[in-house]
Amino acid sequence: MAAKQPSIETLVLHADGHDKPLKSHANPIFQTSSFVFDSPEHGRQLFAGEEKGHIYSRIGNPTIETFEKMMTVLEQGSGAVAFSSGMAAIMGCTLPHLRAGDHLIIGDTLYGPSTTMLTGRYEKFGIETAVVDTSEIENVKAAFKPNTKLVFLETPANPTGKLSDVEAISEIAHGHHALVAVDATFSSPYNFQPLLHGADLVAHSLTKYINGHGDVVGGVVTCKTPEIATAVRNWRKDTGSILGPFDAWLVIRGLRTLPVRMERHNKNAKAVAEFLRSRPEVSKVMYPGFEDFPHHDVAVKQMREGCYGSTFSFCMKGGYDAAKKLLENLHLCTVAVSLGNTDTLIEHPASMTHASVPEELMKKQGLTKDLIRISVGLENVDEIIDDLKHGLEIVGC
Ligand SMILES: Cc1ncc(COP(=O)(O)O)c(C=O)c1O
Repeated sequence: MAAKQPSIETLVLHADGHDKPLKSHANPIFQTSSFVFDSPEHGRQLFAGEEKGHIYSRIGNPTIETFEKMMTVLEQGSGAVAFSSGMAAIMGCTLPHLRAGDHLIIGDTLYGPSTTMLTGRYEKFGIETAVVDTSEIENVKAAFKPNTKLVFLETPANPTGKLSDVEAISEIAHGHHALVAVDATFSSPYNFQPLLHGADLVAHSLTKYINGHGDVVGGVVTCKTPEIATAVRNWRKDTGSILGPFDAWLVIRGLRTLPVRMERHNKNAKAVAEFLRSRPEVSKVMYPGFEDFPHHDVAVKQMREGCYGSTFSFCMKGGYDAAKKLLENLHLCTVAVSLGNTDTLIEHPASMTHASVPEELMKKQGLTKDLIRISVGLENVDEIIDDLKHGLEIVGC
């Protein structure tokens, strides 16, 4: 009988193993740029790959590798590669597999700078990018060309929560010998593990739920096969986009409590979404956990039961002026970008996180100026709701 994979609650505490340097119980930080060679011959052997060991922290570092080992186990992949930011991770899960003349399919709803990078910037290097509504399988099927090499999407997508079926998309992509990369930042590995649903690469901004404490900028790509992991790792080495050891240490510390935090995030968000839906000042709440949310069945199929994340959007009946007025009248919820922090953050995507998205694409995404994005934190949920209620009463209908 195959050994049963321990639960994520246990893995975040034990996946890095108990055999730490000098019998240290906590995980040490290797805050060093270089590692000493025993001899010139030893240095030569390390560079030639004849010996295993550390050379230089742009190539690899034990603290960073501990974090990567944990992510590999949590995502059930073959290797993880940590990056200096979520954006570096998105570049790292796409560009190593593309070259001039290739065709890339991306979801039409992504974090603003992801759209900007994967369209305009990649096009400058001769990569043709098709922007597709990946929530509809027929659109994905129709978008493939003989030179399509990769599909990149977010689900639930930032900021409208759009859902895409990773299993169905992976099946189509693999039929065309293309890879599938999923940015699962909104979910964290607690809510959703894309590799188990057919994806080849999963990217996270560590800045969000995985670190969780709002004090690190980082990213990670976890890969299904060792070959893909090697390609991503070599890309990182040559582009110098590795996470720092101290940041890796902080992320490991954050990751230890991911399941506990996610449980509370998921629960608080559901209550806040239900509250907002009951308010006359609010015209729409885009929470993937609602049964009438488009493709809710996809969320049920691929996400942990009842766990739909804590970052979602809602629209104000009074348009942009009402959205701005609400943000001006909150006291507990902090007006700031980012998400997945311990505390509640709220922002206006059209003028902030998604300001770089062309207006026409914003319209297509349903990213209107009356839309507010909230990342529900771990505070007492009644107090989050009281803050929103007070702000909404000032806005009025
Ligand atoms: C879904 C998603 N992916 C990627 C990123 C980029 O991450 P970072 O800011 O760590 O570069 C963000 C940032 O908000 C995001 O929301």
